[in-house]
Amino acid sequence: MEPTAFLGSASRPEDFPAGEGNEIAFLGRSNVGKSSLINALARKKGLAYTSSTPGRTRSINFYRVDGKVVFADLPGYGYAKVSKAEADRWKWLVESYLLHRKELVLSILLLDARRGWMEKDLELKRWLEFHNRRYVVAVTKIDKLKSLTEVRRGVEAIRNVSPDVPIAPFSAITGQGVRELWQTILKSVKIP
Ligand code: GTP
Ligand code: MG
Repeated sequence: MEPTAFLGSASRPEDFPAGEGNEIAFLGRSNVGKSSLINALARKKGLAYTSSTPGRTRSINFYRVDGKVVFADLPGYGYAKVSKAEADRWKWLVESYLLHRKELVLSILLLDARRGWMEKDLELKRWLEFHNRRYVVAVTKIDKLKSLTEVRRGVEAIRNVSPDVPIAPFSAITGQGVRELWQTILKSVKIP
């Protein structure tokens, strides 16, 4: 068994690959950095497909990482040029996954450090809380902020909205936050 490998892509629940236990879902707006975060955590550039064009991924991509966990890269939301039908499809696919995927142990909700919580993120947050789904927040692209003070301010603004949720600042450029996120993930993992 390859310790780190692409397991498949699914645009409907029937196509989800067989579970391998301990699955982590990556959620967030289009272009926020979900696929880049997966590559950083897996220490493997190009494992997950990244793109500067938002809204490319419309399916869920599954990756086994280090023979330990499975990462599910969910399609992004909030991209303006999406039709109502496509937005409905996103909702159906993502909600089916989050409600019924037995192996799911944790969701990581990504927020852009420069934007913080936006309306669609808050909707998803409320949905996760209503359905009692565990999640943590990763604040991405902190390398784009000019100073540590700005990073701290951004994280504080996010924490004010979600005081009880762990928040990890992260940059795919500098690698900052990779260790902390792994620690958070491993805490959620049930080791047999
Ligand atoms: P979708 O699949 O469209 O939903 O996007 P995504 O959330 O997977 O974003 P992706 O990882 O493809 O990154 C989008 C763009 O942001 C790419 O051009 C990345 O290189 C860039 N990016 C991602 N993370 C970081 C980061 O931490 N710092 C900086 N400076 N750029 C980043
Ligand atoms: Mg992506």
